[in-house]
Amino acid sequence: MKTSTYAFVAAIAAATTASPLAHEGATGVVRERMLMMKDISSQMKILGQMIKGEVEFETNIASSAARRIADHGQEMLVLFPEGSVDEPSKALTAIWQDWDQFERLVDDFNTKANELSAASQTASAPSEMTAQFRALTQTCSTCHQDFRKPD
Ligand code: HEC
Repeated sequence: MKTSTYAFVAAIAAATTASPLAHEGATGVVRERMLMMKDISSQMKILGQMIKGEVEFETNIASSAARRIADHGQEMLVLFPEGSVDEPSKALTAIWQDWDQFERLVDDFNTKANELSAASQTASAPSEMTAQFRALTQTCSTCHQDFRKPD
């Protein structure tokens, strides 16, 4: 039990320590939302590793990761003020040309993130949150496809 707890703590530390170079030059709201997206992705990684069986499943770790993702959803819209595309942002101006659609995608993200969070709180095995995890990953790629510059 102890060993696995330590492994989890190490995994979380590794996943959530953002490279200082990743956001080099980013400031203000652009930096804030890049860090938010990065943290969402780190939490998804923790859940993904449990689902793939690479890391032992623990309900409290899964549910805190999922809750953190859902919490980020609450602030997502606010972090996209009109025209905030300063370098090195990859946000496309299409966001503000098609704000209704962007808002719908954020809503969808929130719905799916809350469903994942609810499922993870009672899950005793990762299989009990796999469908919700997949549904949430769909919302990431749908939005990135239309509203983020490709790498
Ligand atoms: C409603 C739209 C939307 C949703 C939903 C969304 N993203 Fe993003 N994401 C963006 C945009 C736009 C950017 C580019 C932000 C920028 O560079 O200013 C971005 C950037 C990112 C980045 C790069 C951050 C960086 O440091 O450059 C990661 C990683 C990321 N998203 C992960 C995710 C994951 C994982 C999900 C789903 C669990 C998700 N995103 C859901 C719109 C979205």
